[in-house]
Amino acid sequence: MSKLIVTIPTDWTQIVLACKKCSKKLHGGFGPEGDQSLPRALKTELRATGRRRSIRVIETKCLGLCPKNAVTILDGNAPGAMLAIPAGTLVADLLARLPPRP
Ligand code: FES
Repeated sequence: MSKLIVTIPTDWTQIVLACKKCSKKLHGGFGPEGDQSLPRALKTELRATGRRRSIRVIETKCLGLCPKNAVTILDGNAPGAMLAIPAGTLVADLLARLPPRP
């Protein structure tokens, strides 16, 4: 007999997967000074806009796209397409593509 599967509720309404390897290769590239990784800059912007608790940013291993001078992300609510975010992209522009979910 298998063990009981436990369900733990969260406040998240959205999950964003960001490739850690892409971020590491860029050595920054995002944020106001251009010295933050995309996940760090995204979390900072989410905190500033009051959405930090509703969107979970998770760094993953390589997602297989491996763009040059960009970071691959995947919106958990739209798994049919990955996004390659070029270094220097304003995080606010990225968040505009991730509209708040109810
Ligand atoms: S290194 Fe980031 S998708 Fe492969």
